[in-house]
Amino acid sequence: MGFRIILLGPPGSGKGTQAEKLNDDLGLIRLSTGDMLREAVRDQTELGKMAKQYMDKGALVPDDVVIGLIEEKILHIKEGFVLDGFPRTVQQADALRKFADIEHVINLDVDDEELVSRLTKRRSCPDCNVVFHLIYKPPMKDGVCDKCGAALYQRSDDTEETVRARLKVYRDNTFPLIEYYGKQGILVNIDGKGNINEIYEAIEASL
Ligand code: AP5
Repeated sequence: MGFRIILLGPPGSGKGTQAEKLNDDLGLIRLSTGDMLREAVRDQTELGKMAKQYMDKGALVPDDVVIGLIEEKILHIKEGFVLDGFPRTVQQADALRKFADIEHVINLDVDDEELVSRLTKRRSCPDCNVVFHLIYKPPMKDGVCDKCGAALYQRSDDTEETVRARLKVYRDNTFPLIEYYGKQGILVNIDGKGNINEIYEAIEASL
């Protein structure tokens, strides 16, 4: 079994970007609760209809729902994995301990103004979930995913108003996990500002 990693950090800190690199480079399975929920919203499943009401406001989807989603996936994984966007509350972290043994928690640290600027200029692929940035990581062809050729879109929760609401939700609910994992001795803080490849090298060096 490979590494079992959590990527922690506020919205826009680069969790998805770095999780994709860990997947490409080390073959770790990327488990993103955000991507799973957006897929359910697109497919208009019962889960998707319920989750959309929370996601549109930048609020968290109820703990029991996301815990169920992740547990179901992790139990079938034989390789290593990287969790992107889970856990987000102490209740989720407590539940995770019962079904997975996490080795590394990487906390990406980025200030709020940079986060707002990153998210309002983000473009995402609906098919393979790769993310781009209009300035820092533009696609080779305007509006088209480099990896799979699908048309890129802007997430409905990437408006400035909703981003600021998500940052507050992060501070109130997810920030306490830094201390939670710090006490367990498995947390590494990494400066999430700067060159994407250099941040990845710092993550790799910490494993
Ligand atoms: P989710 O999809 O998980 O969103 P998030 O945590 O807000 O994180 P983001 O995807 O916005 O950012 P990221 O850190 O992955 O950054 P990225 O790499 O894309 O969740 C969405 C919603 O789903 C939640 O609001 C909630 O409603 C629900 N949900 C999900 N999980 C849940 C859970 N566990 N419990 C309850 N509810 C849940 O990068 C951002 C941009 O910056 C990109 O454009 C990228 O190209 C660019 N970028 C990345 N790195 C750099 C860099 N170093 N320099 C410059 N630009 C960079």
